Amino acid sequence: MRLCHLDDLPDGDSRGFDPRASGRDTILVVRQGRRLHGWLDACPHHGTPMAWRKDAYLNAARDRIVCGAHGAQFEIHTGHCTLGPCLGQALTPVPLTIDDDGGVHLAATPFEETRP
Ligand code: FES
Repeated sequence: MRLCHLDDLPDGDSRGFDPRASGRDTILVVRQGRRLHGWLDACPHHGTPMAWRKDAYLNAARDRIVCGAHGAQFEIHTGHCTLGPCLGQALTPVPLTIDDDGGVHLAATPFEETRP
């Protein structure tokens, strides 16, 4: 499933997506150069969405993903919580691919993978 074009993702910034048209973003993507880091937008603390406003998933230094609810911080490239109430837990990865034309796609459907 195509999410967007690489040019739609500012380098060093984050963006949320709603690929299931659920009415809220369920995936977040952080771009670092040509590398993309995709995670489910669900904090391991309470399972809730993390952006404090649309597409705002990063701290001021832009080196951590931050949950807007209680301030947990996560490494961008591993998803591991490094500070906050879910220390030792991690975000759920969402595999992404970039095609030759710069299209960004979900490599798999994480929602289906999690079904028993
Ligand atoms: S819900 Fe994310 S830190 Fe509490």
